[in-house]
Amino acid sequence: MGLNGQVAIITGGARGIGKAISRCLAQEGAHLVISDVNLEEAQRTAKELTSGLHRSMAVEANVVDGKAVGELVDRTMKEFGRIDILINNAGITRDGLLLRMKEEDWDLVMNVNLKGAFHCTKSVLSAMSKQRRGRIVNIASVVGVMGNAGQANYAASKAALIGFTKSVAREYASRGITANAVAPGFIDTAMTQNLPADVRESLMKQIPLGRLGVPEDIAHAVQFLVSEGAGYITGQVIHVNGGMLMV
Ligand code: NAI
Repeated sequence: MGLNGQVAIITGGARGIGKAISRCLAQEGAHLVISDVNLEEAQRTAKELTSGLHRSMAVEANVVDGKAVGELVDRTMKEFGRIDILINNAGITRDGLLLRMKEEDWDLVMNVNLKGAFHCTKSVLSAMSKQRRGRIVNIASVVGVMGNAGQANYAASKAALIGFTKSVAREYASRGITANAVAPGFIDTAMTQNLPADVRESLMKQIPLGRLGVPEDIAHAVQFLVSEGAGYITGQVIHVNGGMLMV
């Protein structure tokens, strides 16, 4: 119960990787604020992850909307009086070869994956600075480091998220706030489940550990980064990809 009494906001926490992270933090005793555009699913997840030891709250917020994010942070402060952990996990893909990529698909992916993290991080800094302690973990992607044909928008957003992470780490280290990124490889969630069988097969061949990841693989890395023991780690990218990229 290393996170006993701490308060964590998880964006896109309703399902997939965000839900697995929420479950892991709850098992460590953290109170959860599960934020998502899909309120119903967030409420289901919050209910599922409530126990006698900690509280869970679902909040509808689109991370692209700065006002909604402000309200999310206000509600968290009103309910719990502090914010210890922010997990910028909400993310989307709108894949397509560059020549055919629509401007709106470029903008949407950049807005959710990058501007969303900007809004959420900016909004928690005041509370974390006052506490002189905070943990921020941004969910990037292996694609942000390697690039990927058909994902120019997504790869650019995740590469930028890594640059953002390092800047936040440098700017807020003196306030006791760490900022790190976890870069997942290919993880079996709704985001990847509609990949054609041959694409999955060829992906598998590039992964030395011979399987797609599961959400819990990512959650365990996040769990470590928010722990007391990771207090001297900031501005880093932890790769969790079955060995498909070794840096
Ligand atoms: P998912 O699609 O299963 O879940 C994403 C969650 O984010 C959903 O609950 C969705 O409603 C929510 N969401 C989407 N747009 C939002 C917005 N504007 N505001 C608030 N919430 C929003 O996806 P998954 O796989 O769990 O991905 C989570 C994160 O991990 C994303 O940032 C994704 O880019 C990243 N990632 C996923 C990989 C994979 O292979 N599944 C690989 C590398 C990174």
